[in-house]
Amino acid sequence: MRIYQEADYTAMSRRAANLISAEVVRKPDCVLGLATGSTPVGTYKQLRVWNRRGDFSFKEVRSVNLDEYRGLAPTHDQSYRYFMQANFFDHIDIRPENTHVPDGLAADTDVECARYDELIRSLGYADLQLLGLGRNGHIGFNEPCGRFVKETHVVDLTQSTIDANARFFASAGDVPRQALTMGVGCIMAARRILLIASGEDKADAVYNAFCGPIDPHCPASILQLHNDVILVGDKAALSKLTANKEVSVCK
Ligand code: F6R
Repeated sequence: MRIYQEADYTAMSRRAANLISAEVVRKPDCVLGLATGSTPVGTYKQLRVWNRRGDFSFKEVRSVNLDEYRGLAPTHDQSYRYFMQANFFDHIDIRPENTHVPDGLAADTDVECARYDELIRSLGYADLQLLGLGRNGHIGFNEPCGRFVKETHVVDLTQSTIDANARFFASAGDVPRQALTMGVGCIMAARRILLIASGEDKADAVYNAFCGPIDPHCPASILQLHNDVILVGDKAALSKLTANKEVSVCK
C-alpha cells in the first residue's frame, strides 16, 4: 500500500486528482470506478479544471459508480446520479452513455443488481476505483455486518450512515433507508484502488481499516488483501494511522 499524507483537504484533492488523471493519460479508455459524498468533491473540481484546460480528455473513459439510494430518481437532487452530473459529468467531456450509476428506481432490485454486476464485468472491471470511507468503515454502501457481500446488493443503511448523510436532506427522516451498492467483489476486482479520507472524524475508520483485523464489521479492512491500494488523506484523517510506527508514508 502507498500512503500519501497531505496537509489539508485541498492538497488531498489535488493529489487524488493527479493520480486519477495519470490513469486517464496512461489509458484514455480506462474504466473509472467513482464515488460520491463530500470527500471527492474537491477531487472532481480539480479534474474539471484540468480537463477544461485541455490537459487530458475523458472522451473514451467509461465510469461505474459505487452506489445509489433506493427510491430516488436520477433527477432528485440528493440522488447520486444527480450528484455526479452536478459535480463532475456535466463539466467534463465524458460521453453520457459511458457513465453508469445503479438505477435507484428499478422495480426489481435483484434484476438491477445482477445487471450492474454484469455491466462491470463486461467492461473488464475498474482500472482505478475511487473510494471514500464511512465513519463506520463502510466502502460504497457496504455497511458493517457479519460477512463481506461480494455482489451488487440492496443494503439497509445503518443509523450511523443515515445520521452522517442527514446533512444533505431536510431532515434525517428524509434520508432513504436503503441503497443499491456495488459489493466488495467488484471493488476488489479493480486493478488499483484509491481511497481518500479527510478530517479527524475519519481517523478511527482509517486506522481500523488498515491496522485492524480483516473483519466485515469494518468493511474497508478487506482492502488489506488488495495488492495495489493508494491511501490519500489529510493529516487529520491519517493522524491515528501514522502514529503507528510501522506505517510509512510516501515522501
Ligand atoms: C458514496 C460512498 C460512501 C462515501 C462515504 C463517505 O458513493 O461510496 O462510501 O464515500 O459515506 O462519505 P463522505 O465523503 O461524505 O464522508
